[in-house]
Amino acid sequence: MSVREIRLFGDPILRQEAHEVGSFDRHLRRLARDMLETMRAAPGVGLAAPQVGVLKRLFTWEITFEEEDGTTTTGGAVVNPVLLERGDEEQTGEEGCLSFPGLFFPLARPRWARVRWQDLAGEEHTTEVEDLTARVWLHEMDHLDGILFIDHLALHDRQEAMRRMREQRLADEPEEPGENLLLRNLPG
Ligand code: NI
Repeated sequence: MSVREIRLFGDPILRQEAHEVGSFDRHLRRLARDMLETMRAAPGVGLAAPQVGVLKRLFTWEITFEEEDGTTTTGGAVVNPVLLERGDEEQTGEEGCLSFPGLFFPLARPRWARVRWQDLAGEEHTTEVEDLTARVWLHEMDHLDGILFIDHLALHDRQEAMRRMREQRLADEPEEPGENLLLRNLPG
């Protein structure tokens, strides 16, 4: 297993549509294992294949629920998900994305959805997801169509998110040698 590089906002692959998975082979299982490890290391509750640079309709997810008698962790890999139905009722919660490190915005999503999907062996399932699980699945399914969570935000929040990502990118870029020289000569 290995942790893969997570593509950040601005990388054009995040805007592309991912392709349906046809081969349920060891390459797919390896990709899913790497994505789970990458997601846990981040850490995050969901990760879509395009976020690690692979245009396949696959995402991983893992949520730990606090309960009276301890915690329960559920998750796994979801292949070729298809949204069958979504509830009219909405939920609003803070949402982020591993491709937008450190950014969270309140976002309304359907409170439940019914999704047809395949597991890593190609077996078909239909699952009704709700609350946080619905939020995560719908967020990751968006990624497979090149849709990002900022697309659901009001214009002001979307502009704020893009501005902060631009600032992060500029801060990460190596400085020009001349600039370094200048900084070294500054007091403090
Ligand atoms: Ni995301």
